[in-house]
Amino acid sequence: MNKEQYNSQQENKKESNVELQKTTLKDIQTLLDIEKTTRELKTYSGYFTEEEIKDYISSDVVYFITKEGKIAGSISYEIKDTNHAYLSGLVIRPEFQRQGLAKQALGKLFEELKGYELVDLVVHPENSSALNLYKSFGFVVKERIENYYGDGEPRLRMVLEK
Ligand SMILES: CC(C)(COP(=O)(O)OP(=O)(O)OC[C@H]1O[C@@H](n2cnc3c(N)ncnc32)[C@H](O)[C@@H]1OP(=O)(O)O)[C@@H](O)C(=O)NCCC(=O)NCCS
Repeated sequence: MNKEQYNSQQENKKESNVELQKTTLKDIQTLLDIEKTTRELKTYSGYFTEEEIKDYISSDVVYFITKEGKIAGSISYEIKDTNHAYLSGLVIRPEFQRQGLAKQALGKLFEELKGYELVDLVVHPENSSALNLYKSFGFVVKERIENYYGDGEPRLRMVLEK
């Protein structure tokens, strides 16, 4: 096996370790624990009560991101209409960050959403890790919206250019 084949095999191994697992109402506590890891970040607006998480699971498709069976984070989308899917959440627990998990999870999610003409999201302008990640998938900034969640913080709306 040459070096290129070896690298590609390693890459495949990594990819196959990451799975999306659909959440249900029994997962509220675990989702809360994941969201809590973002509590101090002004660049992320999370769900911090059981009620908020319940509404979130009911309106959105919410997945756990697992690596080798361990829950490493969550990712979600909301169907706005037949042509429009909105990426509503993405969190990787700090101890799992910078291992390519968000990238792999997004890749899987976009495979699922490939039938949608419009895929968009909002991100805080100072959230450079998320901005870099979305740009790497082909998202472009469309507009800046002040005080987006009513907490005084702005957001950039990004749209996936296909
Ligand atoms: C943003 C977040 C989801 C990234 O998750 P992650 O699993 O660490 O990201 P990955 O390891 O898959 O990195 C993928 C790419 O994202 C970018 N990125 C991730 N972390 C970064 C960092 N700290 N600084 C700069 N770029 C970063 C890079 O482009 C990276 O690609 P590279 O490693 O080839 O350079 C994670 O930091 C997180 O959960 N943050 C808190 C919640 C949040 O802000 N979510 C996004 C809401 S819009």
